[in-house]
Amino acid sequence: MTKNDIDKIIRQNHFVEFYNWHQRDFAAPSPRFIKNAVLSRHSIPGCIWYESGSYRYETTRFLASLNVSKVYTCEPSPQFFEEGYVSVAGNSKIIAVREESTVFMRRVLAEIESMQPLCLFLDGHYSPWE
Ligand SMILES: C[S@@+](CC[C@H](N)C(=O)[O-])C[C@H]1O[C@@H](n2cnc3c(N)ncnc32)[C@H](O)[C@@H]1O
Repeated sequence: MTKNDIDKIIRQNHFVEFYNWHQRDFAAPSPRFIKNAVLSRHSIPGCIWYESGSYRYETTRFLASLNVSKVYTCEPSPQFFEEGYVSVAGNSKIIAVREESTVFMRRVLAEIESMQPLCLFLDGHYSPWE
């Protein structure tokens, strides 16, 4: 077994992420693979996802990869909005806007059909790195 093989096993099994999370006594934020598993478990087939706080659009892209009809996401920070926007711009499932969640939520609720399942990931908040 080469060092590359070992690196691959460590990466694939998320050992480093899990170890770091354990070192933080499982404090938030959880590793991405945990976040994705939770969101995936709660996703309703064909639903609309609403995410507040796009940040790097990583969750946005993950949600769009599931069996969903649309992902609405908003990010008020001009810097975060613009830096990641290119990564979702061509995806017809994703509607990304530079807006604050309390404003965008009203527009989305007025726009979508009332019988369509809606899943919420309300993750828009001040972050220490802003
Ligand atoms: C923890 S990050 C979001 C991470 C992202 N949802 C993910 O899963 O990768 C929080 C983001 O919320 C944004 N934010 C802060 N206030 C907000 C608000 N009122 N509405 C929407 N987003 C907001 C911040 O600019 C920041 O990018």
